Amino acid sequence: MKIIQVEHQEEGGKVAFELLKDKLAQGAKTLGLATGSSPVEFYKQIVASDVDFSEMTSVNLDEYVGLEADNPQSYRYFMDQHLFLQKPFKESFLPNGVAADTEAEVQRYNRILAEHPADLQILGIGTNGHIGFNEPGTSFDSLAHVVDLDPSTIEANARFFDKIEDVPTQAYSMGIRNILNAKSIILFAYGAAKARAIAGTVNGEVTEMLPGSVLQRHDDVVIIADKEALSLVEA
Ligand code: GLP
Repeated sequence: MKIIQVEHQEEGGKVAFELLKDKLAQGAKTLGLATGSSPVEFYKQIVASDVDFSEMTSVNLDEYVGLEADNPQSYRYFMDQHLFLQKPFKESFLPNGVAADTEAEVQRYNRILAEHPADLQILGIGTNGHIGFNEPGTSFDSLAHVVDLDPSTIEANARFFDKIEDVPTQAYSMGIRNILNAKSIILFAYGAAKARAIAGTVNGEVTEMLPGSVLQRHDDVVIIADKEALSLVEA
């Protein structure tokens, strides 16, 4: 695992964009993308660049169950606003939050992920160590699935909604196995609230109780983080 300490998110976005350009030069065609505030500066770098993504494919980590694509809180809407409308990809896949049959949607998404393994997967991390929406306790063998969100995740994400009752209680998420299938992984983490999750990810026990810790088993992971998020990592 490589750790790159940055001053702020803007620098983190720039560092990650340079890493992405290396991967593109090596022939990367599929990006695994994430929502949340942590990757926003990275998307800004992509949008501001003259790099052409029209032959690239993207697969996103997760989506809330029950939110339409045009709901401003849906992850499809987030991705459209921050990236896809300004930098179109050939194809951009996310789970469909309003699929009538959730089990069929899970299967459809797993087929998509099998067909489009990510050359580079972008991750944020939850304060409880979740990656994607794989909450503590999720099997390391999991494929895409429907998740009951942890109360701490609902609380953390309530800031984006008018009231906590509006936060969906379930989500579709890539499984841990899908995430580890990526050739390379970049994880962003900013702020003291992420310090425990990052310490567990970098030098804690590898345990399903802290999903990020599974990244210790992957051989190409870069963590881009600020001083606060790295404050509990042992040197
Ligand atoms: C959500 C997303 C995760 C994301 C996490 C952290 O729960 N499902 O994919 O990593 O939030 O978000 P932020 O980057 O805003 O701290």
